[in-house]
Amino acid sequence: MKAGVIILIVLAALIGVGIYTVTNQQEPAASERLPDNLRSLLQEEMRLLNAGVQSIDAALKAGDEATVASVARQMHDSFILRQKLTPDDIRRLKFVLGADFVLTDKAFHGTALELSQAAQAGEAERQTQIFQSLKAACVSCHERYAPASVAELVTP
Ligand code: HEC
Repeated sequence: MKAGVIILIVLAALIGVGIYTVTNQQEPAASERLPDNLRSLLQEEMRLLNAGVQSIDAALKAGDEATVASVARQMHDSFILRQKLTPDDIRRLKFVLGADFVLTDKAFHGTALELSQAAQAGEAERQTQIFQSLKAACVSCHERYAPASVAELVTP
């Protein structure tokens, strides 16, 4: 009985250390473990998204819905970068970053499409709301997968 208790305590301590280690491995970005070609594609996609956020911000302020619609559409389509990926690449991406990453990215691009549609329909309030959630999605994915870059994110 006593030995059982000691074993339990030791186990609990080991699990504790394990959790501590995992949660402390914040940096560097998990994507640094991607092969170079995949990492460059991801970075290319990110630069498109970043430029997109800035033009949408300006267009929203100017009430230029046509630009919001077309830029948001391009952000959605940047997902098409994925079409450059072979099935092997996708397996690698999921292996290194987790299937969740791919889902998060997909959901993100879905939000961009919604924004484009709201702009096309001239729904001013919805455009602002969706744009806010789009930017929140940038931050939340970065917090999880590239924490060091969160502070650098341009989220006007
Ligand atoms: C699905 C997760 C995810 C989403 C959503 C996401 N990012 Fe990223 N982003 C990353 C990761 C991971 C990196 C690090 C890539 C690397 O350098 O390895 C990154 C890198 C970047 C970079 C640096 C690119 C470079 O040239 O090195 C910028 C800028 C960026 N993101 C902007 C954004 C903006 C703006 C948004 C929202 C519009 C966004 N990201 C949404 C995961 C995400």
